[in-house]
Amino acid sequence: MIARFDFTQRRFILAPLAGWTDPPFRAAVKRFGADLTVSEMISANALVHNLAKTKKLYEKSPLETPYAVQIAGSDIQTLTKAAMTLSNETDIDIIDLNAGCPAQKVTRNGAGAALLKDPSLLGKLVGAIKRAAENKLISVKIRLGYDKNNGVEIARVCEESGADFIAVHGRTKIGGFSAPVDYEAIGEIKTRLKIPAIANGDIDSYEKAQAVLDATNADGAMIGRGATGAPWIFAQLKNNLSSAGDTLMRSVILEHFDRAVEFYGERGAILFRKHLHRYSKGREGAAAFRSAINRESDLLALRAMIGEFFEAR
Ligand SMILES: Cc1cc2nc3c(=O)[nH]c(=O)nc-3n(C[C@H](O)[C@H](O)[C@H](O)COP(=O)(O)O)c2cc1C
Repeated sequence: MIARFDFTQRRFILAPLAGWTDPPFRAAVKRFGADLTVSEMISANALVHNLAKTKKLYEKSPLETPYAVQIAGSDIQTLTKAAMTLSNETDIDIIDLNAGCPAQKVTRNGAGAALLKDPSLLGKLVGAIKRAAENKLISVKIRLGYDKNNGVEIARVCEESGADFIAVHGRTKIGGFSAPVDYEAIGEIKTRLKIPAIANGDIDSYEKAQAVLDATNADGAMIGRGATGAPWIFAQLKNNLSSAGDTLMRSVILEHFDRAVEFYGERGAILFRKHLHRYSKGREGAAAFRSAINRESDLLALRAMIGEFFEAR
């Protein structure tokens, strides 16, 4: 069966964030109505050569439908094999190609944002993935360009090569994560495509999401950093809510913690610290809380500290 995901209404999508958007976090986000969640970036090479270990990285969390797995690579044969492997997984609806990651360990192999320098290769890779996984939807996550904005050219190559939709982070590779986001450029891409285009970059509130959707006419908004420490942002974005409420937040954080421990075992406590840093940001006593949790690795003690700190005050 061919997977489906329609854009008859504007979609709110969780961005892939390596180190953050694991199954426990995606489960939290899903509870608040994210329309689509994406795995962390998976190396196509790892997928092909070390499937058993890699599978854990793209495990789907319950209720996570539709579900996209993002792959990174630059070699046509490896990406083809990776796409064929994923095409056999009934849990996965969408295969997303990473054409935006600026990290050196990714770009030095010609993958991620390096693909923006070679639109013709990018097109070949998208086409190969599409042919290898005909039962899945194919999306591409791009930036506006490598060191200049040639986003329209890049986006059109994706469309012509068979992508079903794209997400556009409105910066170039050189722009990293802090240059101003060029929403006008995202809007220009949107007008030049037939396939849906999703806007991404610095969307962190209902007002911002509305402004970006108005400015770009995009088919949806993708949220990354704005969702860390705030998985409830999806309910806020969809329903114009100003706050999720302290009692609910506490139960979400505890449930997120429990799922992290279930997923990672003992290691979950340490991996969860970064989430607690984000969850506690801006709250009274956050600095003392952070230094206390950084020293605690006993799961039960840590859970009690979380429960106490996030008690409605
Ligand atoms: C810590 C971190 C990890 C990221 N990992 C990925 C990734 O695995 N794949 C990807 O396509 N983009 C990744 N990105 C980029 C985000 O998906 C997103 O495009 C970018 O952060 C801008 O959106 P935001 O302002 O909503 O965060 C990452 C960004 C950050 C900050």
